[in-house]
Amino acid sequence: MKSINLKWQQLILGLGCLLLIIACKSFYPTTNSDAKLLKVATDPTFVPFEIQTASGNFEGFDIDLMNVLAKVAGFVVQFESLPFDGMISTLQAKRVDAAISGITITPERLKTIAFSRPYFKAGLAIAVREDNQNIKDFKSLQGKKIAVQIGSTGADFAKTIPNAKISTFNSGPEFFQDLLNGNVDAVVSDAFATLYAIKNGKLKGIKVVANLLTQEYYGIATPKNSPHLDAINKGIETLLSNGTYKQIYQKWFNAEPPQLPDSWALGIGH
Ligand code: ARG
Repeated sequence: MKSINLKWQQLILGLGCLLLIIACKSFYPTTNSDAKLLKVATDPTFVPFEIQTASGNFEGFDIDLMNVLAKVAGFVVQFESLPFDGMISTLQAKRVDAAISGITITPERLKTIAFSRPYFKAGLAIAVREDNQNIKDFKSLQGKKIAVQIGSTGADFAKTIPNAKISTFNSGPEFFQDLLNGNVDAVVSDAFATLYAIKNGKLKGIKVVANLLTQEYYGIATPKNSPHLDAINKGIETLLSNGTYKQIYQKWFNAEPPQLPDSWALGIGH
C-alpha cells in the first residue's frame, strides 16, 4: 500500500512538473523558434550608416536595414563592433556570420569573401577645407597630402593619385579632424557619409568638391559559401519590393532611392 502511494505521488509530481513546463513555454514563447542567431560585424564610426550612441546602441541606415532584414529572413541579429580594417579577415576566419558597414563590393574583396546583391548606390568624394580654392577634382589632388580610412576604397583610390602623400586613419572622425587641423589638404572618402556629416553640422569648415568620383555599391558581406547568403539576398529583394527599403532610405537621406542593379549586372553572382 505504502509503495503504491509513493508511486502515485511520484506520478502526480511528474505530471505537475510537465504541466508547469508547458505553461511556462506558452507564457514565454521564444519569438521565433527557428530564428537563427546571426553575428553581424559593423564599424560604427560611419554616419549615417552605423553609429554607436552614448548608451551603446547601434543606429543608422545599415542598422535599420539589417534589423528589418532579420525579421523577414528569420534571423536574430547580434551586432558586434569591429574596426573596418579587420572586417574582411574576420569574415574570412568565420568569426562572424556577416558584416554590414557600408562595404563596397569590389572584385578584389570578392576573391576572399562573398557579398549580397547591392543594397546601396554610393561613390567617393573629395572633401577639403572651405577656404581651399585649388583642389577641385582628381587632377588637382596630384602631389597633395591626402587622408583616408585604412582598408577603404578611398585608400585604394588615393594610391592612384600621382605623388600624393597619404595618411591613413582608423575612422572617419579622425581623418576629418586632421583635415580641419590643416595636417592634410584633402580627404577621399564615401560621399554620402561626408555630405551627411557636413549637413548635420558635425563637420564645420569642410566642403565637398567632387561628389561621386567613383560609382560604388554597398553589399552585405559574408564568408564564402555562407549558408545565410541566400536568405539575406531574398530578404533584400523583399524589402526593395515592399517599400520598406524606400522608407528607410527616406528616413536617413530625405530623398528617393536610386535604382539598384541586381547582382548579375555587377557580375558578382549570388
Ligand atoms: N565604402 C568604403 C569601403 O568599402 C568605406 C566604408 C567604411 N565603413 C565604415 N563603417 N567605416 O571601403
